[in-house]
Amino acid sequence: MSSGSSAIVAGARSEVIASGSIGKVVRRGTLSRGRLQLDEGRLIRHDEDRRDLEPAAVDDPEACLIDLRVKLGRLELRNPVLAASGTCGYIRELAAFVQLDRLGGVIPKTVTMRPRAGNATPRTVETPAGLLNAIGLDNDGLEHFLEHHLPYLRTVGTAVVVNIAGETIDEFVAMAELVGAAPGADAVELNISCPNVSHGLDLGIDVRSVAEVVTRVRRACPLPLIAKLTPNVTDLVVIARAAADAGADAVSLVNTFRGIAVDWRRCKPILANDFGGLSGPAIKPLALRAVWEVARALPALPVIGIGGIANIDDVLEFLVAGASAIQVGTANFYDPGVCERLVAELPAKLEEIGATSVAEVVGTLRSNR
Ligand SMILES: Cc1cc2nc3c(=O)[nH]c(=O)nc-3n(C[C@H](O)[C@H](O)[C@H](O)COP(=O)(O)O)c2cc1C
Repeated sequence: MSSGSSAIVAGARSEVIASGSIGKVVRRGTLSRGRLQLDEGRLIRHDEDRRDLEPAAVDDPEACLIDLRVKLGRLELRNPVLAASGTCGYIRELAAFVQLDRLGGVIPKTVTMRPRAGNATPRTVETPAGLLNAIGLDNDGLEHFLEHHLPYLRTVGTAVVVNIAGETIDEFVAMAELVGAAPGADAVELNISCPNVSHGLDLGIDVRSVAEVVTRVRRACPLPLIAKLTPNVTDLVVIARAAADAGADAVSLVNTFRGIAVDWRRCKPILANDFGGLSGPAIKPLALRAVWEVARALPALPVIGIGGIANIDDVLEFLVAGASAIQVGTANFYDPGVCERLVAELPAKLEEIGATSVAEVVGTLRSNR
């Protein structure tokens, strides 16, 4: 790339031509309010009070001005953007569209102890601004996952969060132990929230079961532990508190909302399973509410926001509402490059509001009341 002031960092009208893990965004365009310039391959900072320029090396994370790193308890990610479980298969599927090592992390499809065929079809139906699914945890089972998928996942160059679902608490514990003992996983996400199988949902709506599963998995598995919670409860704060008290490093909020789609001519639900879980832009306000409520009530508990995230403004909304990181789900289906694009766009958005790190904006939403 050419040297000098034609290549700049930040500025409203600019085009991303390269990006990296910790704010290594290199843009070309018009410097409207930016403070960084690329000069001879080095980033330089314009100091408003001084005429001289302070150099900062592109490849030195310490010197980068926008720090995208996030910390979720014991789990550290290079940036806050993760691909959500169930929406990018075993991640190979995403590799065709996304440079995986640009992402903060990836979460393969929920794995269960034994292979599952899932529910009968139709098991997805589009709804206004959303998707209703009743896949029913169709997956290859843990043994196959550990033998065939985890070795691949070890090579993708980003954090791998293995999402598991047991039919009982004992099974959750046994699975977590096996995942913890196999090299390759950076964290475990407990799917205690799937609306399409009975046991997962039962656990996630009962405060004592949540406490027990998190306590016992924490003892059995040395990896950072994320509890993925269902929004289909009266008070999510109570459930999140139980997970936190039991030792969860973070909670993922939220899984899908239970719903049905109706074929009124046939007088039948459209999904073979009758009920499904609603995702996509339709649930974003509900997910934001869940994140804000839990983040305000439990400020020490890292929250991962999920629900209808499809563009960079959505990401900022979740961060401000209290999410330390976010997951992208349904949007991967119609915009498979979305996760990488969000990572690339994030530094400029933070720059726009004068922030130098993701951490600075997390939980800054203030009530109007
Ligand atoms: C087709 C489909 C399959 C899903 N499968 C899983 C799954 O296996 N495990 C899980 O924890 N969440 C699963 N989810 C839930 C998503 O990870 C996410 O929590 C939810 O869709 C909300 O995010 P979104 O609105 O960005 O899609 C699935 C969602 C969809 C749409």
